[in-house]
Amino acid sequence: MKKVGNHSSFSRILLFFLVLSLSFSVASFGQQAAAPAATTDPAAGAAGAAGTGAAPAGAGDAAKGKELFNTLCAACHKLDAKATGPALRGVADRRDRQWLYKWIRNSSEMIKSGDPDAVKLFAENNNAVMTAFPQLTDADIDNIMAYTSQPKEAAAPAPGSDKVGAGAVAAESGVSNNIILGALVLVLGVLIVMLYLVNRTLKRVVSANNIEEVQKEPSLPLWKAYAKNQFLVLVTVILLMLSGAYFIYGYLMQIGVDQGYEPVQPIHFSHKIHAGDNGIDCKYCHSSARVSKHSGIPSLNICMNCHKNIAEFQGDKDSTYVEYSKEFYTAEIQKLYDAVGWDKTAQKYTGKQKPVKWVRIHNLPDFVYFNHAQHVSVAGVECQTCHGPVETFEIMKQHSSLTMGWCINCHRETDVKVEGNDYYKKIHDELAKKYGVQKLTAANMGGTECGKCHY
Ligand code: HEC
Ligand code: HEC
Ligand code: HEC
Ligand code: HEC
Ligand code: HEC
Ligand code: HEC
Repeated sequence: MKKVGNHSSFSRILLFFLVLSLSFSVASFGQQAAAPAATTDPAAGAAGAAGTGAAPAGAGDAAKGKELFNTLCAACHKLDAKATGPALRGVADRRDRQWLYKWIRNSSEMIKSGDPDAVKLFAENNNAVMTAFPQLTDADIDNIMAYTSQPKEAAAPAPGSDKVGAGAVAAESGVSNNIILGALVLVLGVLIVMLYLVNRTLKRVVSANNIEEVQKEPSLPLWKAYAKNQFLVLVTVILLMLSGAYFIYGYLMQIGVDQGYEPVQPIHFSHKIHAGDNGIDCKYCHSSARVSKHSGIPSLNICMNCHKNIAEFQGDKDSTYVEYSKEFYTAEIQKLYDAVGWDKTAQKYTGKQKPVKWVRIHNLPDFVYFNHAQHVSVAGVECQTCHGPVETFEIMKQHSSLTMGWCINCHRETDVKVEGNDYYKKIHDELAKKYGVQKLTAANMGGTECGKCHY
């Protein structure tokens, strides 16, 4: 009787501790979940305040402005230092907004018309001519001004106030995840110690009560028992053969498929930094994707449109690309200079060039015909559908398998966009009647005929 009582009181203590530790960890979960929700609000609020406070006139969208600035203006302007043109931070406070609209759309005209500020500015900058941007709307320019009006400190977390919120949440949940993990480890540790203690006490009780511990009879070792059972052996052999065949088949099907291919390039070129963080449009560099069979790699002259001025990597404060140091990135830009023969101190070309040989990543066999313009311009397929989230790739890689099955699947599944295209509207209506379908896929139009893809 006594023994039993003892035993159950131990398990009761154990149960009590379990419940205690569980409720502790649940409580800490709850707190953590509540914490980020509370902190995001002020962050978003602050970002909003900074955005509106910085651009008093026609408050623009600084994130969009940054994108425009990087594609159009960065070639000649920096925010905080003089380049070909003057530093642009705070220019909206220096100049009248209407003056800015006029100047940015066509500065030469303003200088010609004898606007005193314009003439003075022109002379101060050695009569360097600024490109005209007649295509920019007032809203575009407001956006750019919002970007250039950000205070230097706040400039870092600028790209998209939504990003700020998201970043804050990410950081917060990173911390809270760590705390939760820590708590769980602690709970586990406590459990282990408790189990050990309980075991020891039980042993002590056993020896105090002079009970013999039951020794197990030695039985057949497991593998011998297994070897004796012929049915089990047969099943195992069959399983092994099946899985072997599966893997060999998978391996054979992979030959010639280079999905995930990620070679080291002669210059470490980050799509994340260019297309992602700085929002440069894919087509700025891969300009022929829209109009020709090939998308092409940009020539180094295109790089120099911007990099005459961007000699050093600054990075953003909120940047997540901690993978490499600023020195590393700056050295990579130097490689670009070596390749085109640009002397950054003298600001001129030396004439000594070392062509860069980019390693080709995507490569269909010669007997396949693939046309970018057909997909990008005609079909309106996004680059990312085939190439993956390129704007997050620090190193470019092949995202899709590029197998025949991949092409054909998409042709079967993707509806051809016919809106706003009279040519297709007519074919679409006729074919839709013929096939009795409402939607028209590329396959309906012959996208699975061998001859369309094979020469
Ligand atoms: C080809 C080089 C070049 C490009 C590209 C360029 N600028 Fe300029 N910018 C200049 C130069 C040079 C000046 C100085 C005036 C001059 O010499 O004409 C200037 C002056 C200015 C000024 C007046 C600065 C002041 O201190 O008052 C503003 C504002 C300006 N640029 C905005 C822009 C914006 C916005 C863009 C992009 C949409 C842009 N610039 C693109 C070369 C350029
Ligand atoms: C600033 C210029 C620039 C921008 C913007 C840019 N790229 Fe690139 N891209 C390059 C360069 C340079 C290479 C070759 C080096 C490499 O592979 O990393 C390249 C390579 C590629 C490749 C692989 C080509 C191959 O060898 O098979 C793909 C695919 C690609 N880019 C897609 C995109 C997409 C999609 C975007 C827009 C989200 C984009 N790029 C934006 C410059 C750019
Ligand atoms: C439209 C402007 C633009 C063009 C075109 C451009 N870059 Fe850049 N590049 C940038 C900006 C902005 C940064 C980031 C600078 C910073 O954050 O301080 C950058 C950073 C870099 C870096 C350092 C980070 C990294 O990616 O390793 C290298 C190297 C570089 N560029 C190479 C190139 C090459 C090569 C080309 C041509 C294929 C090119 N860039 C074209 C704007 C441009
Ligand atoms: C329908 C899928 C698809 C879409 C959409 C697509 N690509 Fe491609 N891309 C491919 C395939 C397939 C290849 C390999 C072509 C080859 O080897 O002939 C390729 C190759 C490339 C290359 C390597 C150079 C070349 O031309 O062979 C670049 C760069 C590239 N794509 C950029 C882009 C950009 C930028 C966009 C968006 C404007 C885009 N692609 C949209 C499928 C696609
Ligand atoms: C993401 C979807 C997608 C993928 C992947 C894709 N295609 Fe297409 N493709 C389309 C669509 C949509 C059209 C219809 C465009 C049109 O309106 O003509 C098309 C049209 C074509 C055409 C013209 C067909 C015709 O009727 O004239 C050819 C050729 C073609 N694709 C080849 C390829 C090849 C080769 C691949 C693989 C390397 C491929 N496509 C991968 C979506 C895709
Ligand atoms: C939508 C485009 C498309 C169509 C339609 C198409 N193919 Fe292909 N085919 C491809 C691509 C892309 C490859 C290259 C696959 C690779 O490299 O893994 C290929 C490869 C092949 C190969 C080489 C074997 C292999 O898998 O690498 C043969 C054979 C072939 N195709 C036959 C055909 C026949 C027969 C038809 C008509 C029933 C056809 N193809 C229709 C895109 C197409």
